[in-house]
Amino acid sequence: MSKNKIITNQTCGKLYIAGEYSILTAGQSAIIKNINIFMTSKINFADKYTIFSDMFDYAITLEKTAFDKKTSQIFDKNYSLICEAISVMNEYLKLQNLEIKPFNLEINGKMEIDDIKLGIGSSGSVVVLTIKSILSLYNLEISKEILFKLSSYVLLKRGDNGSMGDIACISYGNLIFYKSFDRKKICELIKNETLESVLKINWNYEISELHFNKNNLNCNFLVGWTKEPAISSNLINIVKSSIDENFLKNVEHIVQDLRIAIKNSDKPMIKKCINENGKLLKNLNESIYSQKLRKLVNSAKKLDICAKSSGAGGGDCGIALSFDGNDTKIIIDRWEQYGIELLYVEKF
Ligand code: PMV
Ligand code: MG
Repeated sequence: MSKNKIITNQTCGKLYIAGEYSILTAGQSAIIKNINIFMTSKINFADKYTIFSDMFDYAITLEKTAFDKKTSQIFDKNYSLICEAISVMNEYLKLQNLEIKPFNLEINGKMEIDDIKLGIGSSGSVVVLTIKSILSLYNLEISKEILFKLSSYVLLKRGDNGSMGDIACISYGNLIFYKSFDRKKICELIKNETLESVLKINWNYEISELHFNKNNLNCNFLVGWTKEPAISSNLINIVKSSIDENFLKNVEHIVQDLRIAIKNSDKPMIKKCINENGKLLKNLNESIYSQKLRKLVNSAKKLDICAKSSGAGGGDCGIALSFDGNDTKIIIDRWEQYGIELLYVEKF
């Protein structure tokens, strides 16, 4: 193998099917779907670091020693997430007794259309992709579990206030059931312990891959994009004080029921769960359902379709599960009239 071989990798996007906001509390569960719109990377060893992402219109270069100084000032603001991932990976490589060498890293597929973000998890995807790229450069094969832990480590270190459900889904590249861990506890460990021991410790989460049974369920998974970008971390700060025990209990029931309904291809139960989770979110806080998201859901009226907002809300995307081909066409038409774009379709 030539030393300078260019290696390619990709990571998907994600959307919440159920359990958003509730999942922010440790021990609660969510179901999250991979969206097969991909971010791609190319990586090869080089004399100095050159890092480019099409999210920005310039590349950054760094000397080999830049990452040894561990000062955040040297990180270009736009590139700070990617640089943090590289810095954590340098620590990881040292643990494996590998020599840290600079590289070219190029990332494309920014998950935007006409400069508007799609809201399918680009920041999570870029972290997982950077880590995957470096691992493949060193020929290291690691489990999805370690990929999840390393990527979460990067985000937690940066003070990210998310549940890491996005990272779980993107690391596995599949539809998943996710039960969240105690982030406060792990953040404390990150501050006080080595990377090696943090990775070794049981974080007490669960990630299980789920499968729709295509033979039993004739269903189309549809994603409607509102073209209104929303910032999850801001919405979390607005909504978090509205989250109470009742909400957590109700959502947890729904997520557990939905997990079983997916396994059993139980259409009435799937519809009930999606509709009820949507209602709970609508009642949780008024900033979740923007006007367009309300229209997106109301478009399912009288059709064999269930629909809800997905993720933090306030814009971005909503999802629908359609059990009838003709109704699928009707909802897509209605969405179009409201300026909601059909972003993604997958047959279950
Ligand atoms: O809007 P999204 O796809 O970033 O989802 C956010 C989901 C929340 O539960 C509100 C936050 C989180 O990180 O879990
Ligand atoms: Mg969102």
